[in-house]
Amino acid sequence: MAEEGSKWVVMVTGRSPTNIAVIKYWGKRDEGLILPINDSISLTLDPLHLSATTTVAVSPSFSRDRMWLNGKEIPLSGERYQKCLREIRKRANEVSDEKQGIKIKKEDWERLHVHISSYNNFPTAAGLASSAAGFACLVFTLAKLMNVKEDLGEISSIARQGSGSACRSLYGGFVKWAMGNNADGSDSLAIQLADETHWTDLVIIIAVVSSKQKETSSTSGMRETVQTSALINHRAETVVPARVLKMEEAIQNRDFASFAKLACTDSNQFHAVCLDTSPPIFYMNDTSHRIINLVEKWNHSEGTPQVAYTFDAGPNAVLISPNRKTAALLLQRLLFQFPPNQDTDLSSFVVGDKSILQDAG
Ligand code: ADP
Ligand code: DP6
Ligand code: CO
Repeated sequence: MAEEGSKWVVMVTGRSPTNIAVIKYWGKRDEGLILPINDSISLTLDPLHLSATTTVAVSPSFSRDRMWLNGKEIPLSGERYQKCLREIRKRANEVSDEKQGIKIKKEDWERLHVHISSYNNFPTAAGLASSAAGFACLVFTLAKLMNVKEDLGEISSIARQGSGSACRSLYGGFVKWAMGNNADGSDSLAIQLADETHWTDLVIIIAVVSSKQKETSSTSGMRETVQTSALINHRAETVVPARVLKMEEAIQNRDFASFAKLACTDSNQFHAVCLDTSPPIFYMNDTSHRIINLVEKWNHSEGTPQVAYTFDAGPNAVLISPNRKTAALLLQRLLFQFPPNQDTDLSSFVVGDKSILQDAG
């Protein structure tokens, strides 16, 4: 390693998009390792509008690990951050920068400290999967800094231990999180079903109903569901396994009608198990329900799905249309129902492509 006390800093910056599940993850069989009770499937969004950008720096002048999120220092003492750091450090390799005369040996990583700074370009903890973009980006960027050589599948299983949904953000396109069978979680990881060049016609519109932080975090919400809902086992054991197979087929065949039906039904069932939780959890609000109505009525009147909707653990709508023409019609309908500058809850729209990213970073 370069001389101790010298002022060198090595820095790496990465960017990871968020992902939105069309077959939802809700419920863990192992809280510590973050192992889910069912497979899930998501679309990785384009990073322009919804992504985390993280810079990690290492220097012998840093006396402890520190992290800033959206400009504010946050404690790194939480088990999730600690696990990600520990797992990446374990796999670290030598790094050398001849120009700067820096050589960090494998064993140096154990005692060197990092500073991490991350920004989300969208609301944090508001049900738009900031934990997914955030932990995927953290783990990916740390892995780059420490010259970790493991494949993306293994990196995804480390990101999973930061936040379950994060494992799916390591890949672009359509991604499945296989729940796995092993007790140590080694086979609970993300698998790319189709890359970002597949089904490029899809357009995503996110209707931001509220950017307020949700009252019940995903972590505690799903814990309460597993403890109290009578419906969750039926969902995890019977409904989702069949739905995952159908969803994979719909994606492969670019079958929008099946894709939309499955995505909407799964979103509604996820919110139904939230209602079946004691005390019940309400992530959607009246505006969310009005958006569902608008889409359902439109789809029904055309006799075939025009648009799919899905809501995560928050009131914000993720709307997926099969092409630009339908996306334009959808925006028209949304603007008609929720006119700007009126007293409605709909604050903004984000329009984006499905994904333009090859891999994270
Ligand atoms: P969301 O619906 O936005 O994913 P969660 O309740 O699942 O909400 O997770 C929010 C938490 O994720 C934050 O409180 C923070 O701990 C973590 N998080 C969010 N963004 C980042 C980021 N960019 N880097 C690291 N951690 C993040
Ligand atoms: C509704 O991944 O945020 O977005 O694993 O406890 O961090 P933790 O939870 P998180 O849960 C996401 C739940 C969801 C559905 C999904 O993304 O599949
Ligand atoms: Co989350």
